Amino acid sequence: MSRIVVVSNRVPVPQGNAGQAGGLAVALLGLMQRRGGLWFGWSGAVAEGQAGPSMVQRGGVGYATIDLTEAEHRGFYTGYSNGVLWPMLHGLPHLMSFRRQDLDIYRRVNRRFADALVPMLRRDDRIWVHDYHLLSLPGALRQRGVLGPTGFYLHVPFPAPEAAAVAPGIRGLVQDVLASDLLGFQTAMDRDNFAASAIGFAGAVRTGEDRLELGGRPVRLGVFPAEIAAPEFAATAAAQQAAEPVRLLAQSLRGQALLLGVDRLDPTKGLPERLEAFRRVAARRTARSLTMLQIAAPSREDVVAYRRLRQEIDAAAGAINSEFGEPDWLPLRLLARPQTRDMVAGFMRLARVGLVTPIRDGMNLVAKEYVAAQDPADPGVLVLSRFAGAAAQLSSALLVNPHDAEGMAEAICTALDMPLAERRARWQDAWAAIAETSPERWGETFLRALAPEDLERLPVAGTA
Ligand code: ADP
Ligand code: F6P
Repeated sequence: MSRIVVVSNRVPVPQGNAGQAGGLAVALLGLMQRRGGLWFGWSGAVAEGQAGPSMVQRGGVGYATIDLTEAEHRGFYTGYSNGVLWPMLHGLPHLMSFRRQDLDIYRRVNRRFADALVPMLRRDDRIWVHDYHLLSLPGALRQRGVLGPTGFYLHVPFPAPEAAAVAPGIRGLVQDVLASDLLGFQTAMDRDNFAASAIGFAGAVRTGEDRLELGGRPVRLGVFPAEIAAPEFAATAAAQQAAEPVRLLAQSLRGQALLLGVDRLDPTKGLPERLEAFRRVAARRTARSLTMLQIAAPSREDVVAYRRLRQEIDAAAGAINSEFGEPDWLPLRLLARPQTRDMVAGFMRLARVGLVTPIRDGMNLVAKEYVAAQDPADPGVLVLSRFAGAAAQLSSALLVNPHDAEGMAEAICTALDMPLAERRARWQDAWAAIAETSPERWGETFLRALAPEDLERLPVAGTA
């Protein structure tokens, strides 16, 4: 059986149950722990000098990581990946901040990844590259003579070509990523948008729904929505009801309905818009009837837009509490730090309303986690942005437009007042959409599409 080699910027070397905020880590960790293989990427550390990879073996997985220099971190990670590509891919071009040298450094770091990875590769490896940080890597690997099956998966959305074109350098990167054999996306819309850019920017020809051709070479496209281990998450959420942090939160509510948001502190997550919607709800409801808990894990703090967002939501939260609070009650609790995954699961089960209202999101695993965490006999209601990839699967949620604060406030009130029978019916539909699948199955499906002849011999995993 050939080895799986995952390459991603963030490599979640296991360290207990500390909060690993981020969809990519959550989606891939279980698959790699079960299958084994090599996981290569950035160590998360910044250090001078460009030393070769450090290796850590945990179970069947070898984690090989390199540090970034200060200049690489600034240009590749903070600058081009998160200051240009991330806002462009999420349709927020006004948040882009481009410096020509950052694009050069982005390409150079992708080449450095290739140089470090190639000596570790075996002939029959299947290589799976992840996300927008590494759009150049498939091309760099081919240039270094790597011929084996190479797949690329985009965890985030891909916009229409005219929106993609605003990112300087994107044409070359689309060309580079087309060196892959298979390109995977969260939704059919992302796949089609990418295909349109491949045609417009790189001269590819679309030869079928799931097929492009570039210079006579076929490039396959596929839709692989990221999944969670729903039954396991449900079991954790139920078991956590006895844990102290969850009991303390429950006691502190004294019968009030809990509204919960759990996000990275990111401009795509729609946090100011969500707080504005909650402000309107607080204005309509009597004091002490509800409490909102927003857990927002700081993220990418070197990027200006993220630092501004922190200030903005701190101010908005303070304003809500000073306007509506009472001496013995505050409507909003804002925690700007990650919580452990177990605790998050327990809190989700307590929440009558789950608020997942991104401006744009590739998938949004929190939406699926919230559904999984519910008590089937007395489930809460998911209020979900139409612009999250998850909305394509969770159509029984209350779907909202995050730009419409009043519409969101109305949806939140509808959720708070929803009768049990309707809550159950909506939850059952949502559960049916997530219960039969798993991250393992998501990964196996991608890997089978990448190299079918080899994987035919494997049992189908993740039959949760
Ligand atoms: P993204 O990939 O943009 O971070 P997702 O919703 O797809 O968004 O994935 C986020 C993952 O990280 C989820 O598993 C979620 O539970 C976890 N997470 C997000 N924010 C926090 C937080 N504040 N504390 C703990 N875990 C978090
Ligand atoms: O899912 C999008 C994503 O960028 C992942 O690639 C990443 O693991 C996660 O969000 C967290 O972001 P970062 O690695 O920048 O902390």
